[in-house]
Amino acid sequence: MSERWLPDADSTDALGAALAHTRPANAVVHLHGDLGAGKSTLARALLRALGVQGAIRSPTYTLVERYPLSDGGEAWHLDLYRIADAGELEFLGLDGAEVRLWLVEWPERGTGHLPAPDLTVELAMRGAGRAARLVPGSQTGREWLDRLTVSHGVAADS
Ligand SMILES: Nc1ncnc2c1ncn2[C@@H]1O[C@H](COP(=O)(O)OP(=O)(O)O)[C@@H](O)[C@H]1O
Ligand SMILES: [Mg+2]
Repeated sequence: MSERWLPDADSTDALGAALAHTRPANAVVHLHGDLGAGKSTLARALLRALGVQGAIRSPTYTLVERYPLSDGGEAWHLDLYRIADAGELEFLGLDGAEVRLWLVEWPERGTGHLPAPDLTVELAMRGAGRAARLVPGSQTGREWLDRLTVSHGVAADS
């Protein structure tokens, strides 16, 4: 587990870029936090750092936005806030075979219909800033956090 204090939106962007630069070949990221905590900010920064050009729209209404990655495969950004039933995910045809990176906001609303997270990011508002907790869910996630700590100095405490 690793914790990081994000005093402003720029530091959320920096964390997103750091996650992009250290990312594994295939990864599932679950983003937790209240409305306005910074989940979309982090996802956008990550996608931007992966070379996604043009608008990065919020998938609030579409549930999923898909982006081709320059090194092959796709990144899928999901926001399940408005999903009525996790079973709706089946209708989207999310088999995920071509997906190299999943970024899922409100994953708790898709329980049972999403791949298990390699990394869970929990964002919480603290005054004017945000507290981030990064919790690995797999060996891939642990190695990702190790790379993040080495190259970007995120404090790790376990
Ligand atoms: N570390 C931070 N400190 C202060 N404000 C932040 C921080 N990170 C993001 N923000 C701002 O908070 C808001 C977060 O919105 P958004 O990313 O859409 O949240 P969510 O997707 O979690 O609902 C944006 O206005 C963004 O600029
Ligand atoms: Mg959002």
